[in-house]
Amino acid sequence: MPYDSSLNFIFWCPTKLVFGENAALDVAMEVESLGCKRVLIVTDRDLIKNTDIPERIKKALGKLSAGVFSDVEADSGLHMVNQGAKVGKELGADCLVSVGGGSAIDTAKGIAILLKEGGKLQDYAGFQVLTRPQTPHIVIPTTAGTGSEVTYVAVIKDHEAGRKLLFGDYHILPNVAILDPKMTEGLPPKLTAATGMDAMCHAIEAMHSLQREPMADGMALHAIRLIKDFLPRAVEDGKDMTARGQMLIAANMAGAAFSNAQVGIVHALAHTIGAKFKVHHGLANSILLPACVKYNADACGDIYRDILSAMGVNIERVSPERAGDILADGLAEFTKKLGLPQKLREAGVPQEGLNECSEIALSDGAIVYNPKFISDSAEVLKVYQQAW
Ligand SMILES: [Fe+2]
Repeated sequence: MPYDSSLNFIFWCPTKLVFGENAALDVAMEVESLGCKRVLIVTDRDLIKNTDIPERIKKALGKLSAGVFSDVEADSGLHMVNQGAKVGKELGADCLVSVGGGSAIDTAKGIAILLKEGGKLQDYAGFQVLTRPQTPHIVIPTTAGTGSEVTYVAVIKDHEAGRKLLFGDYHILPNVAILDPKMTEGLPPKLTAATGMDAMCHAIEAMHSLQREPMADGMALHAIRLIKDFLPRAVEDGKDMTARGQMLIAANMAGAAFSNAQVGIVHALAHTIGAKFKVHHGLANSILLPACVKYNADACGDIYRDILSAMGVNIERVSPERAGDILADGLAEFTKKLGLPQKLREAGVPQEGLNECSEIALSDGAIVYNPKFISDSAEVLKVYQQAW
């Protein structure tokens, strides 16, 4: 689909990517190339309890490892970041290696700020507040979905104030991302499916975003192709290293795409459901995606045709008018085969909570980039009801 003649854009993705089976074991080389000498590993409790991954990374770092901060839990919070920064300071850390999913990566982004700037993390919330490079940060993702290793955003919860703080800053983009399929092989099928669908939503949302742009579109389209082919394989057999590797690449490309083009209605509605009813982010996205595609269908016919084509559908006879419905049905079929719940009620969302969610979702930052302008909570409620 052609771009408007008034098109102008910035595409920013300076993170160095290192890909390969067992590539994470070369982490020391990356630390040295950044000129660093003392690493704080940031990882989450479950990972350290259930796997030997953090231990393997520690061993690979050898004398460069100053210590491990492993108190990260789901939904990164201010207290976690403060605690991690305290540990990092005491150990004299000059580099962070985060090992985990979105929460560990976001926590490390926060720690990177505090180690460099000091003070209170809250003071740096907002967009482009920082004025200089932060503590070097290498990411080793253990899920293939968030793309957080190449995004300039961190979401940290302020539990006391009961709100989420958003940090959007080019200076918190990680320096290096090591994509090693061996790091995701232990992820259970349900989580593999849900996180993979988060990546699918990043790719589709980057494409239908008001801020869509050609570089992001290219990455998003290829991510969609890869997810369509390899997510079912990774869910079916977690030890399929080809599928695990291609999913890491897909999540990364989708991450770079949405970090530049932004996301829209799917994420706005999923953020709200996630915060209110603790539904896993990828699962919430996956359930809401078909209803949101139907909602946007009349504004995105040509874009949805391109997406259908990337999903392997012959679009010769698919008109732009019908593309949204066909895509929505195809996505529902895809997630059904992955074994994911199809409706919000199956994910524990009570119908009576949808009204309030519709009001809250209207003020989510992502909704601003949706191709159709939404200012009426009744419109949002209709989409929620359809997904319920
Ligand atoms: Fe997401």
